[in-house]
Amino acid sequence: MTALDPRPARSPGVSYQDLLDADTHPVPDVLRLESPRFLGDDDIPIERYTSREWHELEKEYLWKRVWQFACREDHIPEAGDYIVYDIAGLSYIVVRQPDLSIKAYPNACLHRGRRLKDYDGHCSEIRCPFHGFAWALDGALADVPAKWDFPHVDERPDDFQLPECRVGTWAGFVFINPDPDAEPLEDFLGGIREQFDIWKLEDRYVETHVTRVIHANWKVAQEAFSEAYHVNATHPQILYYLADTNSQVDIWDDFARVITAGLSTSPLLWYPVDENTMMRSMLDVREDQESPIQVPEGGSARAIASQASRERWRPAVGDRVDTMSDSEMMDSIDYTVFPNFHPWGAFNRIVYRFRPNGDDHRSSIMEVLFLSPYSGPKPPNATIRHLAHDEPFTNEPGLGMLAKVFEQDVFNMSKVQLGLETTRKPGITLANYQEAKVRWLHQRLGEFIDEGRKAAG
Ligand code: FES
Ligand SMILES: [Fe+2]
Repeated sequence: MTALDPRPARSPGVSYQDLLDADTHPVPDVLRLESPRFLGDDDIPIERYTSREWHELEKEYLWKRVWQFACREDHIPEAGDYIVYDIAGLSYIVVRQPDLSIKAYPNACLHRGRRLKDYDGHCSEIRCPFHGFAWALDGALADVPAKWDFPHVDERPDDFQLPECRVGTWAGFVFINPDPDAEPLEDFLGGIREQFDIWKLEDRYVETHVTRVIHANWKVAQEAFSEAYHVNATHPQILYYLADTNSQVDIWDDFARVITAGLSTSPLLWYPVDENTMMRSMLDVREDQESPIQVPEGGSARAIASQASRERWRPAVGDRVDTMSDSEMMDSIDYTVFPNFHPWGAFNRIVYRFRPNGDDHRSSIMEVLFLSPYSGPKPPNATIRHLAHDEPFTNEPGLGMLAKVFEQDVFNMSKVQLGLETTRKPGITLANYQEAKVRWLHQRLGEFIDEGRKAAG
């Protein structure tokens, strides 16, 4: 393998594109795209997960200047609604304006610095809880108690306007960038906007929303969801019906994806798996139980399960489901926008976000949202369930069968961190194709931090 090889080796067996050829419905162009990139095969330095210095670089040159998902637009529908967005020991407020535009400010009082808002909520003005300085929603200084004592504030009105972050929206998501000179969100997102057009995530609501503290660096947590290579050892129970090592991996500039087919068997299984076994396994039917769905002789479990999924979503999505491919019904279309935002395409409904846990580089917050379609009046978004210390995902019924899978993923994470702290090996080693998204995340991170340092001189 040379650095010039544009197409790394692939798993034997059925490819994702082969499965699309056999789809029972027309396949959208977005799924026919292929963008493999060989990004080199050097190890990734361990310090990226373990060192305080690297964490400080991320704070200064990543989180203070990258576009990042803050909330959904419908988390702050009315003028005066706001959320507190915390990242790596930094805090911002995102506020709906009287004209229904959105502004974001560093969450810091311009008197003596107190965080202005501690919780999400609704307000008619932004008043500091310490001495009562207050700002209008648009950031103009509105009130200074005992104003007679601050003639010098009057003389410097520009310094007492709340400084603004950049704000942008896409597909119902609100993004902020603390850097006032950042490129527009549209440029940063690039082609992902067009790729998601058909899935209309702006027409969804948050049906389930869960957070959990993970005892590992935020990148350890995120990377566990950035490849399907771990499935064989971590989730062996799903190998009958998940095409893990023949996932398709596509890398663009600031986003990437891994597509893993459902109702297709892992190439790592060395014996044939019949269609009914695949179906039973997906439905989690026990040996001594009758399967609720039988695959007839010569039938395809993938086609039957896709049709069942169409019927599941028909009440919410309408007959549009009849134009949608088996892949959109069945597969994990797992996109990642640099650096930490993971919206899935089509009907898997998942959105992940991974953040450092406050200013601690050895723990992180994993967040799962299910974005569901609906018909009729828009249902209210789920309130966020913050799982208690080491409380399992299985305590949140809204996660359904995925909760058990997340438990298996989380089980590894603190052990990965421990191993990274202990190892004598200076770097982690990655697969060329299957783990290309992990490599891409690290390369973008390195480039981004380098650019930031150069710009700062
Ligand atoms: S710190 Fe906010 S009013 Fe004093
Ligand atoms: Fe997993």
